[in-house]
Amino acid sequence: MKPAVLVTKRIYPEAIEYLRHHTEVEYADTDDGLSAEDLLARIRGKDGVVSQLTDRFTPAVIDQLDGVRIIANVAVGFDNVDLAAATRRKILVTNTPDVLTDTTADFAFALLMAAARRVVEGHHFVHSGKWTKWRIDMLVGEDVHHGTLGIFGMGRIGQAVARRGRGFSMRILYHDAQRAPDAVERESGAEFVSAETLLRESDFISLHVPLLPETRHMINSSQLRLMKPTAILVNTSRGPVVDEAALAEALEKRVIAGAGLDVFENEPQVHPKLLQLENVVLAPHIASASVRTRRKMSMMAAENAVAALEGRRPANLLNAQAWDGG
Ligand code: DGY
Repeated sequence: MKPAVLVTKRIYPEAIEYLRHHTEVEYADTDDGLSAEDLLARIRGKDGVVSQLTDRFTPAVIDQLDGVRIIANVAVGFDNVDLAAATRRKILVTNTPDVLTDTTADFAFALLMAAARRVVEGHHFVHSGKWTKWRIDMLVGEDVHHGTLGIFGMGRIGQAVARRGRGFSMRILYHDAQRAPDAVERESGAEFVSAETLLRESDFISLHVPLLPETRHMINSSQLRLMKPTAILVNTSRGPVVDEAALAEALEKRVIAGAGLDVFENEPQVHPKLLQLENVVLAPHIASASVRTRRKMSMMAAENAVAALEGRRPANLLNAQAWDGG
């Protein structure tokens, strides 16, 4: 008998086809997502689940996942899954790294450029018919080239953003809980500095840290006050890394010049003040959303699920103890 898998939300069809070849699939074929209650009801009797970042696997949910052997998350971030609780129950958890690194870095840079050069304001200005004459100081912004780019989190995506910064002749600073290996610093040309130096000296700050208790509200009003009044903050990591209310206030009062945000504290809700401001570019959590990348992510999660259910170690296993732990 084939193992049974729940897919909690719509993914690309080739991943479903692959899953159907190897498993019995129960497919929640919509974009709605499942409530915790529905998730638990539909997961009963399943051996695995292909989940997305909107599915919340809290310890309470995980404790009820009888028989489930794998949670294959279609995302590189996995803050929606309590890894410790899954490991305690020997449930394997996987993510989809690498395939989205450059796609996400491209988008972080797009937000940076859009905020610095006021691309969205320009679009609205033209679109609304307000462009009646050319002015020497019309929609002037900040130069990106030769600026200082500060990167919080020098993992795969942080490094990819640094490479883009190099192409723009930028000085690159970074801060991370751990200093990157020499080879990474050499290749990216990035200089390790304290968080405070990064905040004080950067013209652009891009966030690439995972959401952890220690990174929640890592950027709050005190950090924002350390930044230059001309600085631009870009967040493509996770919303709660930034205190959204504090950021909205800082943008309103011009404590910093602008922001480009792809992620929010309570998605899909956005702090109402941010919706009123012109010096922020907002996107609906789409940094990895190229067709090719989202297809690859779907497929990768399906392959991780099938590997685990066929007794093979999944390629993107996050909790090795659940595999080796006996
Ligand atoms: C991720 O993969 O974690 C992104 O936030 C969604 O693609």
